[in-house]
Formats: sequence, C-alpha cells, structure tokens
Amino acid sequence: MRPKIVAGNWKMNLTFEKADQLLFEIGELIEEKKTKGVEIIICPPSPYLELATDFAQDFEIKVGAQNVSQYEDGAYTGEISAAMLSSIDIDFSIVGHSERRKYFAETNASLAAKVDRLLEYGIQPIFCIGEQLEERESNKHFEVVKSQLVEGIFHLSQSEFSNIVIAYEPVWAIGTGKTASPEQAQEMHAFIRQLIIDQYGEEQAHETSILYGGSCNAKNAKELFAQADVDGGLIGGASLKAEEFMAIANSF
Ligand code: 13P
Repeated sequence: MRPKIVAGNWKMNLTFEKADQLLFEIGELIEEKKTKGVEIIICPPSPYLELATDFAQDFEIKVGAQNVSQYEDGAYTGEISAAMLSSIDIDFSIVGHSERRKYFAETNASLAAKVDRLLEYGIQPIFCIGEQLEERESNKHFEVVKSQLVEGIFHLSQSEFSNIVIAYEPVWAIGTGKTASPEQAQEMHAFIRQLIIDQYGEEQAHETSILYGGSCNAKNAKELFAQADVDGGLIGGASLKAEEFMAIANSF
C-alpha cells in the first residue's frame, strides 16, 4: 500500500534559531501524539538541512531539500548537487515547485534532468505539478498537468518511477487561502493516477503517493485526505506552526 505522507515545505522562511525552535516543537508533539502510519517529511531551507537530519536521528521524520541542481558537479556557483544532498543523508527533494518554475525559469526539460540526478543518488523526488488559474478557467488544466508529467517524469523506467512522489499543487491555491475543493482535488488526483496506470500499469499506480498542496490547513486537511486518491499533503504556510502542522499530520 502506498505511504501516506505529510511534507512541510518551509520555503524561504525562518532564521536558524527559529528553525531550531520549530523542530523542537514538532519533536515534542511527535512524542506526545505518536502519529502513526504517516510519513512526516520536513523540507527546510538548505542551510538548515543538517539541523533537520540531526533531529531525524531522534524522531520519526524524514528530511527533504527544496531544490537540487540539474548538474552533476563543477563550476555552478550557488548550486547544490544531488551528491551533496546524499552525503548528508537527505531522503527526498522537492522538484519543480511552481515558484521555481515561475521565478527561476525552470522548465520541464531541466526538471527531468533534476529528477535523473536525484535518482542516481537514491533521493526520492517529490515532483510538483499543477495548473495556473487561467489554465483552469480555460479548461486546460488536465492537458497542462499531463504535459508536466510526460515531459518531467514519464521518461523514467518503471523501477526508477517507483521512487517518485507526486504533489499536485494548483498554482491558484498556493498561499492564497483558496483551497481546491475535495472534489476538485480528487478529480485531478484520479486523472493523474489514470495516467500512471496507462504508462506504468495498475500495480505501480496503486503504489504511487499523490499529495495535494495549496492552502491546506488543519481545518480542511481531513476532508481532502479522505478522498480516495489523495495520499497526503505538501504544506507551505501551515507547516511553519508546529501545532497546525502536526494536526494536519493527524488528519487521516
Ligand atoms: P501553502 O500551503 O502556503 O498554500 O503552500 C503550498 C505549497 O506551495 C507547498 O509546496
């Protein structure tokens, strides 16, 4: 059975002290509530990755990066390679977040290369897809999501693909307080799962976790996670508050 996952994407937030404090508070809540059957992934800014991996030695969490270079190594100032992430025991990396597509001109082709680098180093990509508001309004959302999948990850072999986690994040729902309705989320997640069936077969599709992201919070998580094809969430703003994040993790 595919894992249920709640991942916190801290984005470019928090100073070192505040990050340390947030991890500490999350740790206390994990001890208290003994969250069962949910994989918790924390994706802090890169300077705090090791802080989080230290914490992961004592608590049941996994650590993810927010981005990775498409290049192997060498003269790429400011970039962080998959080899570097692997050398500090990072388990996951977000790839293709809409903010990176928008502000850093990431394309499906560069994202496909990032996914390849991660898999070479045994790091699981959390591959983000999702349409913009105009695309949904002009009824192009299915087409857009399909091309993001086809161009970004459907070049993988089945054994490579078995390491992928998908996050459907409609761009109009990110940081806007405007969540997709449970029906909208389920409709798209079922569409994504059908595309995986067509490409890799029933069994693989059944094993692939598809997360929802976009204004997911402690109030709406239960209804979203109750949908048949929603296997958890990629949480932005609400992952910066320990109580709220752990309430989401306990929403299955
Ligand atoms: P918000 O939860 O802040 O809408 O962000 C979602 C997101 O982009 C997670 O990657």
